Amino acid sequence: MASLIPVGIAGLGRYVPERKLTNYDLEQIVDTSDEWIVQRTGIRERRIAAPEEVTSTLALAAAQAALADANMAADEIDLVLCATVTGDQPFPATACRVGHDLGATRAGGFDIAAACSGFVFASQIAAGFVQSGQFRNVMVIGAEVLSRILDYEDRNTCVLFGDGAGAAIYTSLERAGRGEYLGGSVSMEGGAEAILAQPGGGSRHPASKDSIEQRLHFMKMGGTRVFRFAVRVFAELVQKVVDTYGRDQIGVIVPHQVNQRIIEAAMDQVGLPMDLAFINIDRYGNTSAASVPIALREAYDAGRMEKGKLVLMPAFGAGMAWGHVLLRW
Ligand code: UT7
Repeated sequence: MASLIPVGIAGLGRYVPERKLTNYDLEQIVDTSDEWIVQRTGIRERRIAAPEEVTSTLALAAAQAALADANMAADEIDLVLCATVTGDQPFPATACRVGHDLGATRAGGFDIAAACSGFVFASQIAAGFVQSGQFRNVMVIGAEVLSRILDYEDRNTCVLFGDGAGAAIYTSLERAGRGEYLGGSVSMEGGAEAILAQPGGGSRHPASKDSIEQRLHFMKMGGTRVFRFAVRVFAELVQKVVDTYGRDQIGVIVPHQVNQRIIEAAMDQVGLPMDLAFINIDRYGNTSAASVPIALREAYDAGRMEKGKLVLMPAFGAGMAWGHVLLRW
């Protein structure tokens, strides 16, 4: 078997919509308070896409930023992967629209529907393609317009989520010169549709007068069960990396921005200080597949990547599904 090509990250990009929806704004919409939201989640505001913006608009802006960061032309991209559960439409894939608008004339593309784990799963697909030599440059995007599937009559969900997009270009380590891909994981416990899902619109509950009346096209969530699940798998993922590489090798943990308390509880279980984690949930809420790549770019801009140290990205969400990506910067 031919030896694997070492993989790195050539470029990082992010885009968030202009409009901010603060906790005080939400107080006017549902029975909630800034105090409750900040104490229970750490969120202060989130971004909401403009009416003319769709998921591919956000994804395109993040992808363009990643290309600029990598000093790479769009026609050098071989594959566009878009992780999203709020694509422009059920099909065709949002990745195809983004590839077209980007000018990625040689690329193929498809979407990955893995909710909050989408970006870390797509990253592993991208790394595999580059390692094998099948593709040289793979654009991985996580993009969501969750505001279009949120029920602004349901305070259990609508305060938690926001819109945004992030992107990373996986290429050979030789070209990238940074962000060596060390590996990752993909896990699931199926049959958990009742805990976190958008029930309507698929083959189980196709769009109908009834499905609309029952509000099945909006996200539904049993928050406390998700909370317990997230703390457990987040702590397990981090513990494994600590056991394998040693605590002192970890430079920064860039977790799925799910809830400040979930991140604190998991870090505490593993015995790691909170300042090892990069957090931006206060400004964006949970942006599902977009949360890790937005945070990754912001951690990079904040100088949090230490040369030679590990960058760990754990993610978890609907499925239930979870996994991680590990880089050496
Ligand atoms: O990427 C994965 C996606 N999932 C998530 O991000 C959610 C993960 N879960 C969570 O973040 C937490 O479970 C929540 C923040 C959703 C809730 O926190 P909690 O500590 O699990 O809830 P709690 O037991 O402290 O509070 C629940 C109560 C309920 O009232 P009753 O039934 O006890 O009277 C809710 O009705 O809090 C009420 N509640 C609210 N009150 C004010 C729920 N949402 C709100 C709200 N404002 N927005």
